[in-house]
Amino acid sequence: MKAYVVNQWLKGPEDLVLSTNVPEPEPKQGELQIEVKAIGLNFFDTLMIQGRYQIKPPFPFVPGGEFAGVVKKSTVSQYKAGDRVFGSGFSFAEVITVEASKVLPIPKNFSFEQAAGLYITWPTSYAALVLRAQLKAGEYCLVHAAAGGVGIAAVQIAKAIGAKVIATAGSTDKLEIAKKFGADYAVNYRDKDWTEQVKKITNGHGADVVYDPVGLIEQSTKCTAWNGRILVVGFAKGTFEKLPTNRVLLKNISIVGIHWGAYTKNEPESIPKVWEGLFGLFESGRVQPALYHKVYNLANLPQGMDAINNRETYAKVVATVGGHDSKI
Ligand SMILES: NC(=O)c1ccc[n+]([C@@H]2O[C@H](COP(=O)([O-])OP(=O)(O)OC[C@H]3O[C@@H](n4cnc5c(N)ncnc54)[C@H](OP(=O)(O)O)[C@@H]3O)[C@@H](O)[C@H]2O)c1
Repeated sequence: MKAYVVNQWLKGPEDLVLSTNVPEPEPKQGELQIEVKAIGLNFFDTLMIQGRYQIKPPFPFVPGGEFAGVVKKSTVSQYKAGDRVFGSGFSFAEVITVEASKVLPIPKNFSFEQAAGLYITWPTSYAALVLRAQLKAGEYCLVHAAAGGVGIAAVQIAKAIGAKVIATAGSTDKLEIAKKFGADYAVNYRDKDWTEQVKKITNGHGADVVYDPVGLIEQSTKCTAWNGRILVVGFAKGTFEKLPTNRVLLKNISIVGIHWGAYTKNEPESIPKVWEGLFGLFESGRVQPALYHKVYNLANLPQGMDAINNRETYAKVVATVGGHDSKI
């Protein structure tokens, strides 16, 4: 089978080589063997091949983080050969093995491409807004990098909750994407006065919840409402902020972290509740996975990684595998 195999730390995606004669991995007890149909790409894929990610697999390894595909062999009773699943695992290959606990059945009517990027972004945004910030209908929710992977999920979940959504992004095109997926207002955070724009939109009230995957906490405190909750989701800007805590005190602000990956270890009982909420939204059609317009394949997947690294993409970037019929 074809797979990207990493034998030493690489400079970047351009150094990835697609091997053609890799043996198919066999599932151990508790695992599934999956025929991969689509791969979800993430910024951390690049960190992983460079040896800069928190997960540093021993060489040789197949990199990757998300996928959708079909079960070829099962060692557990919950899944059988032929089941359509999506999940998290080392995915840059035609066939992979994963622990059965790291997959879920593909929601009805979703294609492999749509399902390939669900496993990380959607529960992150749902757990952040629902469990951590307790966003309520009628509140103002400010979503930064609203056209990005986690951002576009947050926009849709916040709208489904009944919030008034203010999207920020760094270009007119990306703001249009955020509006297409439900944002009520759009502000370019490259504008110097973007916090003033948010205050104006909210008639001086400020945002009740701020969803921040970028690293804009300090600036956001200027346009956060009394009793506002600011979610620390990520650091796309590449730096950690230091905060003047007087503003946190003056407005009764809560700064709230979300680390979805750590729920498995620290709060496993919340995971099924999050997925139950999400599957309800998926099946109702009130939210839908958003995909970047260019779909990659296994051969040009490194170009998709480059596009993410160059900040060119919006929504989820996906590579298909094996030229299957994308309409399920
Ligand atoms: N806490 C968790 O559990 C969790 C889970 C998943 C992801 N995350 C984190 O959330 C962040 C976003 O993930 P994602 O999947 O949404 O990524 P993404 O699809 O690549 O989107 C990130 C967006 O950030 C914006 N951005 C602003 N400044 C940037 C900069 N200097 N360089 C690159 N992008 C910049 C870009 O939008 P504009 O061009 O519009 O500015 C970009 O589209 C990452 O830091 C990720 O690690 C956290």
